[in-house]
Amino acid sequence: MTAKTREEIEIMREGGRILAAALQHIVPYAEPGTHVRDLDSRAEEYIRNAGGIPAFLGYGGSKETLPYPATLCISINDEVVHGIGTRDRVLQSGDIVGFDIGMAYPADNGLYTDMAITIGTGRISDAAMRLMRVTKESLARAISFVRHDVAVRTIGKVVQQYCESHGYGVVRDLTGHGIGKNLHEDPPIFNYDEPRAAATRLTEGMTICIEPMISVGTWKVKMDPDGWTIRTADGSLAAHFEHTILVQRNGAEILTEL
Ligand code: MF3
Ligand code: CO
Repeated sequence: MTAKTREEIEIMREGGRILAAALQHIVPYAEPGTHVRDLDSRAEEYIRNAGGIPAFLGYGGSKETLPYPATLCISINDEVVHGIGTRDRVLQSGDIVGFDIGMAYPADNGLYTDMAITIGTGRISDAAMRLMRVTKESLARAISFVRHDVAVRTIGKVVQQYCESHGYGVVRDLTGHGIGKNLHEDPPIFNYDEPRAAATRLTEGMTICIEPMISVGTWKVKMDPDGWTIRTADGSLAAHFEHTILVQRNGAEILTEL
């Protein structure tokens, strides 16, 4: 992946700020009794009013799978990622809910930003709180290692060591990614120590998404019949946090800071 120009970085900064604001905007509505599709339509409206385009809506698809049909991924409890935001589903007290959102900005020929958080609704168990806290902290720790010339493998090592020290599983079937002109660019950013990443280094001006997906139990996942929703194979709770990050000479700039 080539380094972003000054102009591209400025656009992604602006996009990242809007994206974080869109996510902030829906959080207060996520309570027991909320229909998830209402959150999805609020997020879509926010993005369009701000001059962006939802990045996930219409993404992918094949002979077997429909293109992704929503603005948000809303992944509840044992759902790890890609729960469909337009589903007919109501949040319950005790649910932990992952919100993943992406945008191209500006609407014409835009650049992508992408982020995710996991929050609790109503009364949350201590085990669920701990999972969310550790997953969020693993992202913060990984980001603290980001700077020019650091091996991509380091990111995975940091996430894996921290999360496994808490007895958690690190999902391997999905990874973070480069981002910019496309939602998904090289390099893949693994959340575990992956030898295939050994030769890849972060370089100044790269923009990447780091997105640990962590479960209370096994790291193994399975796909729902809808072709999108990915959940833990053992039904244990999962959490997901993500930021879009600019690699700088001496550190990182979080473009999607809340
Ligand atoms: N944050 C996720 C990712 O980077 C969301 C993708 S959802 C999809 O892969 F619908 F666009 F696939
Ligand atoms: Co992503």
